Amino acid sequence: IGQQVQDVLSQQINPSLDDGPDFHYGQFPNGFFWSVATSAYQIEGGWNEDGKGMSIWDTFSHVPGRIEDGTTGDMACDSYHKYKEDVQMIKALGVKHYRFSLSWARILPFGIGIEPNAKGIEYYSNLINELIANGIQPAVTLYHWDLPQSLEDRGGWLNESIIVPAFANYARTCYKAFGDRVKFWITLNEPFITANAGYGRGKKAPGLTGEGDLVYIAGHNLLKAHAQAYRIYQREFQSTQKGFVGITLNIVYKEPLNPDNPLDVEAAERAMQFDMGWFANPIYGDGDYPEVMKKQVAMKSQQQGLYQSRLPEFTDAEKKNIKGTSDFFGLNTYTTRRVEHFVQPFDKPSFSRDQDVREQTDPSWPRSGSPWLLAYPEGMRGLLNWVKNHYGMVPIYVTENGISDRNGTLEDYHRIYYYKFYLNNILKAINMDGVRVIGYTAWSLMDNYEWEKGYLERFGLYHVDFTDPSRPRTPKASAKYYAEIIANNGFPS
Ligand code: NOJ
Repeated sequence: IGQQVQDVLSQQINPSLDDGPDFHYGQFPNGFFWSVATSAYQIEGGWNEDGKGMSIWDTFSHVPGRIEDGTTGDMACDSYHKYKEDVQMIKALGVKHYRFSLSWARILPFGIGIEPNAKGIEYYSNLINELIANGIQPAVTLYHWDLPQSLEDRGGWLNESIIVPAFANYARTCYKAFGDRVKFWITLNEPFITANAGYGRGKKAPGLTGEGDLVYIAGHNLLKAHAQAYRIYQREFQSTQKGFVGITLNIVYKEPLNPDNPLDVEAAERAMQFDMGWFANPIYGDGDYPEVMKKQVAMKSQQQGLYQSRLPEFTDAEKKNIKGTSDFFGLNTYTTRRVEHFVQPFDKPSFSRDQDVREQTDPSWPRSGSPWLLAYPEGMRGLLNWVKNHYGMVPIYVTENGISDRNGTLEDYHRIYYYKFYLNNILKAINMDGVRVIGYTAWSLMDNYEWEKGYLERFGLYHVDFTDPSRPRTPKASAKYYAEIIANNGFPS
């Protein structure tokens, strides 16, 4: 591991901050939603305070060997106690929205029930009030990966009959408690990661490994749970609360390795359909999984000798229920891969091998503190056009984008480079390609608990000192830079 970290650091360079000949001068649309994000388990701490129940991340991070630096989120940034300071940091950036998530187990300690934990409701109510008093609108994620452990004990995202009604009940509880003040809701954060890392590769909680079967079952139930939460808002709350409900999908953008090779062009599209269409096509498309995904998984399942495809099917009624269940396209994206056609042998079934592709990166792309994350700003423009070309003029809200390092430097020019050129490519997509983008969210407000990487990978605009129990926060150069872009609403000439 030490060597791997060294490799990453030695390749992390500070690219030039000069505008360059391709820079696009201009401003974002009026009323553009500038935002910054965190999530509950990554910042709150207070893991066993005031009646909070255990979540799968409490369990997982306490198992020796699961987290690279051996740490937990027991205290994290201590935002459970320092939320007022957080709000002042958010305010200093000049953002309009703060995207944060609710801890399900803080609100419903066992994941179910009608009577929520009063202390849990009080914490979020105070945070929401503090934000509004400081002119910031809350954008609230219901589920950012910290499932109540009691629900996992009954099968978690693999058990439809438990998880779908439980999530619906939790969503209703939150709309009831906070919907008078919260007008932007995100049901699920990155269901792709929940399914793949939680129930496929086993790298994230609950840490289960499936062979290309559990992944699709988890995905199926995530989609159904999301649709229920959307329909409940639509039926019971929309007319009085008048808010917006959407979902956040993540994607590593794919470009064909050789754009002149039709097989590579097809492979890149196939990988996009597996990684994004899997959730996007049911919601923003025709209500069902992408054709190419159905075909590919059926073929691979047959080669394994299975009688049925590992990809579950929706009934017509379910398709109708899922289609159209998002008021905006929440998009998390960080990086790009070049993709080539590559037939995978069928001996070891898995989600990635079902695709028949092979991915690589370009050695010229600046690296980060995360081995998977390389900066390629042009990918952002390509991706936004891809979304427009496939799902039409649905308003896109970038709900996460950012870059990590490992030293937490306050002179984070690589982060300034990243924000500058990713945002410039979004502006090009809006002004030159006619893509409808309504907001942008920087990940993250501050350095925090990067899941199985512990505190090794830092994404913050603010530095957090995790060796000091009072968890002091210090703005980095990028915080000042982001505030400037927001104040200018872009890049006026
Ligand atoms: C996606 C996740 O939503 C967030 O929790 C994570 O910290 C960032 N990406 C960076 O990996």
